[in-house]
Amino acid sequence: MCGIAGYVGPRKESVRLVLDNLKRLEYRGYDSAGVAVATSAGVRVLKKEGKLGNLVGALGDLATASGTVIAHTRWATHGRPSDQNAHPHTDCDGKIALIHNGIVENYLELKEKLLADGHKFASDTDTEVLVHLIESEYRVLGDMEQAVRSALRKVTGAYAICVVSEYEPGTIYAAKTASPLILGLGDGENFLASDIPAIMRHTRRVIVMEDGDFAKITAGGVILTDLESRPIDRKEFAVTWDVHTAEKGGYPHFMLKEIHEQPKTIRDTLRGRVTDEGQIVFPDFRLSPARLLDFNRIFIVACGTAYHAGMVGKSFFEHLLRRPVEVQVASEFRYSDPLVDSKTLAIIISQSGETADTLAALREAKAKGATTLAIVNVVGSSIAREADEVLYTYAGPEICVASTKAYVTQLVSLYLFGLYIAQQENKLSKDIVASYVEDLLAIPDKMAGVLADTKAVEKIALRLSNTSSCFFFLGRGLDFAVSMEGALKMKEISYIHAEAYPAGELKHGPLALVEPGVTVVCLATQSALYDKMLSNVKEVKAREGIAVAVVKENDQGLDERSVDAVLTVPSTRHDVLMPILAIVPLQLLAYYIASDLGREIDQPRNLAKSVTVE
Ligand code: M6R
Repeated sequence: MCGIAGYVGPRKESVRLVLDNLKRLEYRGYDSAGVAVATSAGVRVLKKEGKLGNLVGALGDLATASGTVIAHTRWATHGRPSDQNAHPHTDCDGKIALIHNGIVENYLELKEKLLADGHKFASDTDTEVLVHLIESEYRVLGDMEQAVRSALRKVTGAYAICVVSEYEPGTIYAAKTASPLILGLGDGENFLASDIPAIMRHTRRVIVMEDGDFAKITAGGVILTDLESRPIDRKEFAVTWDVHTAEKGGYPHFMLKEIHEQPKTIRDTLRGRVTDEGQIVFPDFRLSPARLLDFNRIFIVACGTAYHAGMVGKSFFEHLLRRPVEVQVASEFRYSDPLVDSKTLAIIISQSGETADTLAALREAKAKGATTLAIVNVVGSSIAREADEVLYTYAGPEICVASTKAYVTQLVSLYLFGLYIAQQENKLSKDIVASYVEDLLAIPDKMAGVLADTKAVEKIALRLSNTSSCFFFLGRGLDFAVSMEGALKMKEISYIHAEAYPAGELKHGPLALVEPGVTVVCLATQSALYDKMLSNVKEVKAREGIAVAVVKENDQGLDERSVDAVLTVPSTRHDVLMPILAIVPLQLLAYYIASDLGREIDQPRNLAKSVTVE
C-alpha cells in the first residue's frame, strides 16, 4: 500500500500543491517519498527516505517549481526503504518517471531481459522494471501512450501507476488493476490520487478508476479506455463527505476500515505465492529446501495478536507436518533459556517488526545458533533486517492500535509456509496442497460476504454493550486460539474484562463466574469438536449466562432458541483454515461494542501501536 498523487494544469507551484495533497495519504505509507515534475525542459525527480517531511525539507528550488507532477509516499514491499528505492523511478536517460502502488509479480523475469538488453537499474524494487519496460517499448513505438499500454500488457501483478515524460510533458498516463486510483476533475486542470481525501480541497468531482482502466490525463480532460484502447464510460460523482471521514474511506474509525480491507490484504498476501497448479512458491526465498528439512525443532515466537496467530500456526504445522512445534510469548522466550540450537527454526511474527520483546527473542534465538524466519508487515523494520529470512505479510500500514488485517495476513503466511515445508518434504500429494490453496484463494470472497452484512453482530453488540459485565471466549482446538484473539480485541478496545478459555476448562473453575450479565462467546467451527462445544453452550445457558455462538453456515445444532445470538461464517473444506473466517465476527463484536460505549477505538488508553520498550 502506497500513496499516489498527481496534477496536470496551469497552476503555479504545482509541486507544492501535489505534495500537500500527498500529505493526506501518508496513512498509506511513510517510509520514503518522492516527486517528479515534467516540463518541456525535462523531468526533474527528488526522492528521500523517511516521512514526507524529509522530502519537503529537501525541495530547494523545486518548492516553487511548476509543471505536470506525480508524487508518491511509499510502503516498501520489494527493497528496503531508502532514497534509491523511493519512487518515482526513471528510465536510463531520466526522460520518463513512474510511480507505482502494488506488486509486479513477474519482475524478476522482466528484469533479467531488460538487463540483458543493457538497461541500467538504480534500485532493488520490482517497480523499476516498469519504467525500463516503457522505455524499451518507446524506443520501438516512438509513442508514449502506446509504449505504456504495450509495457503493461507484459506485466502480471497488481498496480496503480502514473507516468510522466519529457516526450509529452503535459500528460499523465495512469492505469490500474487491484490497487486504487481516483481522478479528480477540475476546470482546466485535473488531479489524481490513491484516495479521495488527497484532492478534496481542490475538487469534489471524482471518477473512481476500475481494474483494467487506462487514463490519459491532460489539463483539458481525461480520456478513459481499457488497455486495448476501447473507450470506457465511468460515471463521475460528487463527494459529499468531510475530509476526516474521507481519510478513513468513509468509515468512522480506521479499525472498521482495516477490518473491511481484510479480503484485499489476504489476496495481496497470496499474490505471486501460489502457482496456477495450486503449489506454493516463494520467489525470493533464500532458505534451501535441504536446510528446511534439516530442522528438528520449530519455535514460533511473538507478542499479542501475532502470538495468537502463532498459536494457529503451531496447530497447523503439527497437523500437516506431524512435527512438534512450540509457540511462546517473546517476553517469556527470551528469559527462559530456550532449548534452541543450530537445528532449530525460529519463526518470529510481528506486524511492526519493531516490538522490543520480539526483537530480543529473535536475537536470542540467533545467538543460540537457530535459523530465523520473520513473518513481518513492515519492510525494512529491525526484525525484517535481522532475520535470516523474511516472509512479508502484505497488509499495508495498520493504523489502529488493535491489530486486525495484520492478524489475518499472518495466518495466511503461516498456512503458506506450512504448506511450503510439506511440499519440500513430499509429505502431501500435489492434489492435497492444491485443495488447501483452492480453499485459501476462496477465503477473500467468503470474508467479503461476512463483511457485507454485519446486522446480526451489530444487533447483539448493542444489547451486550449495556448488559455484559464481562466476557468469556470459549473454543476447542483451533477455536481456542481464535478465542484468545477475540478476547484480546474485546478487552483492548471496549475495556470490558474478557478472558479466553479452552472450552473443556470451563467446568474446572470459570463456570463459577457464569451468571446473568456474563457473556460467553462460544466458537464451534471445528467439526470434530462440535458436539463437545454444544455441551459447553448448555452449561452456560443452564447458569443463565448470555451465550453468543460462532458457527459455520448451515449449522443445525444452535439457533436463537438455544443461544442468545448466532453469528454465522462460511465454511471451508479444511477446518484448519477456519480461524481466518471465525475471527471476523469477533473483531466486529468488539468494534461495535466499543463504538456503542464511545471508546477511543483507534487509540485505546494505555496502549501503543508499536511497543518498543521492554
Ligand atoms: O507489531 P507486533 O505484531 O510485534 O505487535 C505485537 C503486539 O504488540 C500487538 O499485536 C498488540 O497485541 C495489538 N495491540 C493487538 O491488537
